[in-house]
Amino acid sequence: MGVEVTVKPHITRLLRRNRFGASMLDLWREFKVLFAVFRDPAKSLPFNGQAARLRAVRDLLDLFEPDAVVETGTGLGATTSFFAGNLLPVYSIELKRIFLVAARFRLRSYRNVTLILGSSPEVLHRLAGQRLFQRPLAYLDAHWWESLPLQAEVRELLTGWGEVLILVDDFKVPLDAEYSFDTYAGVPVSVDVLELPSDVTVAFPAVPAKDETILRTPDNAPSGMRPIASAAHRRYDRDPDMVR
Ligand SMILES: C[S@@+](CC[C@H](N)C(=O)[O-])C[C@H]1O[C@@H](n2cnc3c(N)ncnc32)[C@H](O)[C@@H]1O
Repeated sequence: MGVEVTVKPHITRLLRRNRFGASMLDLWREFKVLFAVFRDPAKSLPFNGQAARLRAVRDLLDLFEPDAVVETGTGLGATTSFFAGNLLPVYSIELKRIFLVAARFRLRSYRNVTLILGSSPEVLHRLAGQRLFQRPLAYLDAHWWESLPLQAEVRELLTGWGEVLILVDDFKVPLDAEYSFDTYAGVPVSVDVLELPSDVTVAFPAVPAKDETILRTPDNAPSGMRPIASAAHRRYDRDPDMVR
């Protein structure tokens, strides 16, 4: 049985008035997400259990031959563990300490994984300055909270490295409305909200969403592979300044 506990809006407003209250509220939200993730087996699989995406990423690793993988938004390290298995150095960046601690435990046996606490654009900027690798594959999945760092991440990657392959999760696929995507302040995370230099090549999945898989276990359904949710968008609409 699922238990949903929410903090009433007027209590939220009261807590937000001082720093201690705001930190308590943030901690509460992080625990709620952690609990939800542990309840959903899909979150324990790389790429949320999407088989076609996993095959595409494997092909891209073979074709592009990166010398490192950079992930933004470690979460609990499900996708990080897939990248780690390819024996490349993996740098994964997470904003929330509580998730980083959980991921660190999960990934404790991998010597090629470096988990970094911080906001992705700043950490990418620092990594670019350190020149630890020359040709990264970057997997951008730093979502969930009010601010979407995508544009800043892309900017850091394109200015920091001469050659980089960037994969973006939860992105709108223009010719296939069945693929789910995130929205921030009502705006879909899509190529329309990204400023890209003209020499950047943009590509979308060739496999139709109807042939993609996702592991979903709603409270009232048995677990198993089911078709990907049709045009279901996750919304992050609390802050009108989210898209930058
Ligand atoms: C969708 S989850 C990541 C899931 C993970 N990549 C996986 O496939 O298992 C998004 C994560 O991004 C993190 N995040 C959000 N904004 C971030 C930022 N600016 N920098 C780094 N991490 C961020 C969140 O705390 C959350 O853990």
